[in-house]
Amino acid sequence: MIRVPDSPRLGVLASGTGTILGAIIDAGLPVAAVIFDRPCPAVELAGRAGIAAEIVERDSYGQDFDRVAYTNRVVEALKGHAVDVVAMAGFGTVLSAPIFAVYEGRILNTHPALLPSFKGWHAVRDALAFGVKVTGTTVHVATEEVDAGPILAQEAVPIEPGDTEDSLHERIKAVERRLYPETIQLFLQNLDKGAAP
Ligand code: GRF
Repeated sequence: MIRVPDSPRLGVLASGTGTILGAIIDAGLPVAAVIFDRPCPAVELAGRAGIAAEIVERDSYGQDFDRVAYTNRVVEALKGHAVDVVAMAGFGTVLSAPIFAVYEGRILNTHPALLPSFKGWHAVRDALAFGVKVTGTTVHVATEEVDAGPILAQEAVPIEPGDTEDSLHERIKAVERRLYPETIQLFLQNLDKGAAP
């Protein structure tokens, strides 16, 4: 494991409403910067908290999207804020190899299902459609293979009669807003400290 400074700087990647980002900020974690892939409500949230916010805007959502070039732009933005550890919080773009080389073992993600079940962007919808009675959330180390890295924490969320994708996702996110900041905190505490990466 690469050593990080005594006070590691956290970079958050976000895209959406930003409630998970809000929970990370409220938990008092050392967020140095938030990077977004598009304009979204979470940008204002970071601004209100006085945290550096940078939009590294995707130039394409089509087949011509250059994922490696885009990933390099995100890495440069993170480096520009001297980020040591990255937390993904609903980031809507799958990143490719360069970020996993630079930040190997230091990128965390929260996923709204009990991995390895229901990988991918529609995890809540897929769990509901499959008819499972229990789903949940997983915090894991992100690797180049999507939703497949080592699991750090999991918590179950029962599916209730009449649940919709939105109602279930909101109950899962209520757990994520507690479990993810707690797990990031533990991860930061357990890192090998004492030197610049
Ligand atoms: C969370 O459920 C996260 O696990 C998923 O996207 C959602 C982000 O929620 N990847 P929010 O935009 O922070 O409210």
